[in-house]
Amino acid sequence: MASVLTNPLRVGLRQERVIPPQCLVIFGASGDLTHRKLVPALFELYRQRRLPSEFAVVGCARRPWSDEEFRSRMAAAMASVISEHPTAWQRFASSLFYEPADLSDPATIVQLGQRLESIDRQCATRGNRTFYLSVSPAFYGSGCRALAAAGLLADADRSRVVIEKPFGRDYGSAQELNRVVQTCAKENQIFRIDHYLGKETVQNILVLRFANTIFEPIWNRNYISNVQITAAETVGVEERAGYYETSGALRDMVQNHLTQLLALTAMEAPGRFDPESMRNEKAKLLQAARLANEEEPWKCCVRGQYSSGGSRISPTAGYRQEPGVNPNSTTETYVAMKLFINNWRWQGVPFYLRTGKRLPKRVSEVVLTFREAPVHLFDAAGGSPTVNQLILRIQPDEGAEFRFEVKAPGSGMRSRPVDMAFSYDDSFGEPSDEGYVRLLADAMLSDPTLYTRSDEVEAAWRLYTPLLELIEDSPWQLPVQPYETGTWGPAAADSLLADDGLVWRRP
Ligand code: BG6
Repeated sequence: MASVLTNPLRVGLRQERVIPPQCLVIFGASGDLTHRKLVPALFELYRQRRLPSEFAVVGCARRPWSDEEFRSRMAAAMASVISEHPTAWQRFASSLFYEPADLSDPATIVQLGQRLESIDRQCATRGNRTFYLSVSPAFYGSGCRALAAAGLLADADRSRVVIEKPFGRDYGSAQELNRVVQTCAKENQIFRIDHYLGKETVQNILVLRFANTIFEPIWNRNYISNVQITAAETVGVEERAGYYETSGALRDMVQNHLTQLLALTAMEAPGRFDPESMRNEKAKLLQAARLANEEEPWKCCVRGQYSSGGSRISPTAGYRQEPGVNPNSTTETYVAMKLFINNWRWQGVPFYLRTGKRLPKRVSEVVLTFREAPVHLFDAAGGSPTVNQLILRIQPDEGAEFRFEVKAPGSGMRSRPVDMAFSYDDSFGEPSDEGYVRLLADAMLSDPTLYTRSDEVEAAWRLYTPLLELIEDSPWQLPVQPYETGTWGPAAADSLLADDGLVWRRP
């Protein structure tokens, strides 16, 4: 009988893990993320009966709200979800508390500590605490210091801190921030979040690659000619100009989300599915990645900025006309670039990354294009046969498809391309959870597998250092090029691929 090697450590590890009694403390509770993502994700976990009955959420911000006010503000922001589950919300909302606190004022953190003691007794949360820093990045370091000074991170088994992106602004500041937070807590208490890793389809990249035998032998430079990773959005900067003006697409999307997609697509198989084996492989991969031209980075990167567009009836503003944006802003809302990975598996295979706001379609995908068949025996519809492509659709229409040539019906021997498709919706029939649902549960379970480790974050920043320095020191060498709202970015992004005889896939 054929034997299958089963890793005993893996069995049962991921399924229905039980979150221990828990108090989740959200700093920045009056901010957008709390009512748009965090509390809805917690409510979802509650409805799925995955939260323990000994549970509390404590919102913290400077505003002098009461528990009641916090509850009613969350209820107002989540009205449409709550209207479908009013009774569940009533019960869930009784676990919401609020304590005014300011991470830059240590006295308020000490006071918070006392409140947490009392909530601990009231809700039997047994001192298990997850602190979520959904605050301005300027407070990540000082916030951790204030928590540590108040003794709130002292218990390495029962306390942890989740830190939102961006983790640093460049390689140097990320190193410094790592140094600071690591003086306040052990690495296994630090959860650097990237919400893309919470997406079902992003995790599926691992399962697709490492739970099937057919992909591994061809997942390398011998068979794959290039890889394209796209994260396109239709939205503009919305109300986030204050943040976005200091960030731009490179820091906002590429350094984190696209780089994580790159790491999962290209990394080696870990020996085991445990946090450190996984993160070792990702870190190794990122350490081997390089811009295609580090000496002249402007030759392998394109920056764009959306200009006005839309129709005469519903025109849309250009980036520079958005509220809060500098009318002469040179912040990029679009980036396309070419990378290489200097290792045995990928040497010479270009990886193209692109992301942008106000593009024609919301779509995130990874496209692996295979090498051409060595000999063309058949006439192909359209002139030459299309090359095989494997498309991993991250969102929307989550799934995957494989494009290959078949015989076109008829008496001749012409080939034409068809798609074999897998759709999450059709196969499983239920929408997958928001990334934050999975990631919040994992943090409360103290499972860092889907969180980024210090060396990974630093490697990701180091990868883009030549570009960041160029933009800082001689921005005229890589100016932002305007692209009309609703188009696929500046023409120069097409030339980046055309120079290699390629085109971007039009999703
Ligand atoms: C965030 C960025 O991290 O990701 C936003 O700050 C972006 O600018 C968002 O819109 C995209 O996430 P998603 O899950 O909608 O693809």
